[in-house]
Amino acid sequence: MILKKIRRKREMLKGKRVLLRPVKRSDAMLFFKWFNDTEVTKYLNLHLPLSEVEVEKWIEETIIARKQMDIFFVIEISEGRKTKAIGTCGIHKINAKDRNAEIDIIIGEKKQWGKGYGREATGVLIKYCFQEINLRRIATGAYSFNKRSIRALLSVGFRKEGRQLQIVFKNGKYHDNILFGLLKKEWETRTAD
Ligand SMILES: CC(C)(COP(=O)(O)OP(=O)(O)OC[C@H]1O[C@@H](n2cnc3c(N)ncnc32)[C@H](O)[C@@H]1OP(=O)(O)O)[C@@H](O)C(=O)NCCC(=O)NCCS
Repeated sequence: MILKKIRRKREMLKGKRVLLRPVKRSDAMLFFKWFNDTEVTKYLNLHLPLSEVEVEKWIEETIIARKQMDIFFVIEISEGRKTKAIGTCGIHKINAKDRNAEIDIIIGEKKQWGKGYGREATGVLIKYCFQEINLRRIATGAYSFNKRSIRALLSVGFRKEGRQLQIVFKNGKYHDNILFGLLKKEWETRTAD
């Protein structure tokens, strides 16, 4: 019974090419690499270099201990018979009363950008939010210069809801943050087509 449930959950977290799996302690070095890569972090609300110890502590405290409000995944693809971790995604600030949350997606392996994995992982995560966690609304954001992210979010059904002017300072300039939202009923209408 439990195995059946786990198998069903894993099916829920699978796309055609990507699989979302829980974060393990042994993922620390991957996170260390991705979150110290300035080509990746230029798109994120991260600017300080992270030490190995900080990443390990973050995994321990944030990912393993706080299951109620945040759910973190590692995004994997198949490479021959093996699987390869290419990034991470998560559901954050889960609000059980109002049934909403925020999501984020990071493909940390730059070689894998632009191959459709980000869009696919976002689709899998959205399905999980609505079909398993029973959320009613999800939200996310992207800096105005993050064209790839904006296109990926629009293509899975997110709607632009607003713009936070000059909220972040990156590469010597202030940039806007675009806010996106998606309601379960809108997503159901799209997926029913
Ligand atoms: C943003 C991110 C998740 C997108 O995932 P990805 O696998 O690279 O992107 P995809 O291949 O799924 O493409 C998504 C869309 O961007 C478009 N795209 C791809 N490369 C692009 C580029 N260089 N410029 C503009 N658009 C681009 C694709 O055509 C697609 O749009 P479409 O659905 O309208 O055809 C990924 O690039 C990433 O993690 N980047 C670094 C961290 C980050 O920005 N995270 C998001 C923070 S908000």
